[in-house]
Amino acid sequence: MVSTVHPRTQAFRSRLPSADGRIAEWLTFDNMHHQWLLLAACFWVLFMFMVASKFITLTFKDPDGSLKTYFKFFIVRDPFERLISAFKDKFVHNPRFEPWYKHEIAPGIIRKYRRNRTETRGIQFEDFVRYLGDPNHRWLDLQFGDHIIHWVTYVELCAPCEITYSVVGHHETLEDDAPYILREAGIDHLVSYPTIPLGITAYNRTKVERYFLGISKRDIRRLYARFEGDFKLFGYQKPEFLLN
Ligand SMILES: *[C@@H]1O[C@H](CO)[C@@H](O)[C@H](O)[C@H]1NC(C)=O
Ligand SMILES: *[C@@H]1O[C@H](CO)[C@@H](O)[C@H](O)[C@H]1NC(C)=O
Repeated sequence: MVSTVHPRTQAFRSRLPSADGRIAEWLTFDNMHHQWLLLAACFWVLFMFMVASKFITLTFKDPDGSLKTYFKFFIVRDPFERLISAFKDKFVHNPRFEPWYKHEIAPGIIRKYRRNRTETRGIQFEDFVRYLGDPNHRWLDLQFGDHIIHWVTYVELCAPCEITYSVVGHHETLEDDAPYILREAGIDHLVSYPTIPLGITAYNRTKVERYFLGISKRDIRRLYARFEGDFKLFGYQKPEFLLN
């Protein structure tokens, strides 16, 4: 007997799964195994996400809304000077006892980002810049854990778009900003900020130029791309002298 259904329609129908068919398929043992694998993979991704968000303050918890009533402030500085300061303070002459920077983090950065493989010196600012400017830096960040707070962007660290800060101070004008913050917080009669040596907080272009000397424009531009938000959000000038 000749079928009255057009062959293409028939083929189409046979590919359409019925609801019953789908359930039956789901329940067969072999497929169950695959579903579990898929489920396990989803949970793994979710878990990694949770680990990541523990370190990166993209979201924050404030269940009773009490954060609203607090006086909240943070102090920013020129993003590149901040990175130089973090590099010096953590890798060059760490004044605190934090051996993990030198013995775990620095070797991890060198292994992945050192350009000259025959160079055996300890971590150089160039290695650090290449790590920070890499769009895939998060893989190492996860290994480094909480220690990255010294060099993640202010946007990631302080969530300025989610939290309404009472004051955002600047390191460059700390002499004025520190007393102002204490006064605004209403604690200036209880504490005072230590005297700041003259000129120590001012932006030092010579220092910035010296640190970036010999680092490729490509690497500096990638670094700028990552920290551009911090430059723009807090009124810092784009360092054209390094980028062009
Ligand atoms: C790589 O490092 C070695 C050891 O410091 C040095 O002798 C060599 O000139 C460097 N090569 C380049 C291309 O910079
Ligand atoms: C700026 O940095 C350079 C190089 O590190 C240093 O020699 C100079 O004393 C610094 N200037 C000030 C005003 O601190």
